[in-house]
Amino acid sequence: MAILVTGGLGYIGSHTVVELLNNNFEVVIVDDLSNSEKFILDNIEEVTGKRPYFFPFDLKRKELLAQVFDAFDITGCINFAAFKAVGESQEKPLDYYENNLFSLINILQEFKQRNISNFIFSSSCTVYGQADQMPIEESTPLKTPESSYGKTKQMGEEILKDFAVAHHKKIALLRYFNPIGAHPSALLGELPIGVPNNLVPYVTQTAAGIREKLNIWGNDYPTEDGTAIRDYIYVVDLAKAHVKALQKLMASDEETVIDIFNLGTGRGSSVLEVVEAYERANNVAVPYQICERRAGDITIAYANADKAERELGWKADTTLEEALRTTWEWQKYLESRG
Ligand code: NAD
Ligand code: WQD
Repeated sequence: MAILVTGGLGYIGSHTVVELLNNNFEVVIVDDLSNSEKFILDNIEEVTGKRPYFFPFDLKRKELLAQVFDAFDITGCINFAAFKAVGESQEKPLDYYENNLFSLINILQEFKQRNISNFIFSSSCTVYGQADQMPIEESTPLKTPESSYGKTKQMGEEILKDFAVAHHKKIALLRYFNPIGAHPSALLGELPIGVPNNLVPYVTQTAAGIREKLNIWGNDYPTEDGTAIRDYIYVVDLAKAHVKALQKLMASDEETVIDIFNLGTGRGSSVLEVVEAYERANNVAVPYQICERRAGDITIAYANADKAERELGWKADTTLEEALRTTWEWQKYLESRG
């Protein structure tokens, strides 16, 4: 019995693989290394003492995917593999629809043909757009996301709901808020390729002197300090939620399950609060300048994650500062690797 983890060498995937291995799951990773590096596999082994099976290919290659299903007794899948850069998705929408949706459908075809259930999908709070009320509940109405990336997440959710109903499958849609931080070992973390778009990687590179200044995109939002508010969730907490969600699906006697969970802390932090917390946590300076708002940004998003606490027995309890400390340790590790 093995769990297929697609994108398992990526940022959230690698942390989740560690938690799965620590919970004695057998793990088979498929990752084409389009946004990750092979050394992460060695580091997973260093952290857990176990080496997961690893197959480096693109999930759009159906014949290779079928071989993995032939070779292992796959009893579930956590599907992290996707392109995720919001800005890039606007320039290359077809690449995003093709990669994120074809790979999803290919796995679901295998599930259908082989009568496998238990599928977990990496969704995103982007499906809510700018919600009218805070905190965001799972029942909060969805809004069409502005980016093609966001649309692939909303479409992925719809595909999975139809699939679950038509073929009697158990699925979970996990809507992540803003994942941050790195593994406490400093052996796993986010690999920013090029200039980071996300706040915490940019702050980290600014503190490290790689970037001169952080650009804060707008301080005229209707928030206390004028900067936008998000719910920053520690990646190890997030990874643990996947194990809980998988265990819940596997234990369920129901034929058809559609579980939807917000995964966040329930706390909102402004951009300036993140910068100050980073400086405090790591005793470093993060120079910044205030710029115009970034196109497509929303003002505020934070989760009500009570449902995950109630039904999964899961809660994100790592503080923002603790999470930001691990980010800095990971940066130092990356620098030590050269
Ligand atoms: P990541 O880029 O670090 O990991 C994704 C992994 O999938 C990479 O290792 C990449 O090489 C692999 N991959 C991509 N396309 C593939 C394909 N066709 N075949 C095989 N491998 C492929 O991203 P992440 O931050 O770990 O995100 C994981 C998932 O969570 C994604 O689906 C993402 O959309 C979603 N998500 C991420 C965030 C975030 O802020 N990081 C927030 C919400 C949702
Ligand atoms: C956070 C805040 C920025 C960088 C994106 C995706 C979303 C989800 C998570 C995957 C915002 C501000 C940022 C910078 C800044 N991903 N900021 N200067 O925009 O909430 O969401 O990642 O599903 O789909 O859209 O995250 O980290 O980019 O920004 O001032 O250099 O930091 O304006 O207010 P965001 P982020």
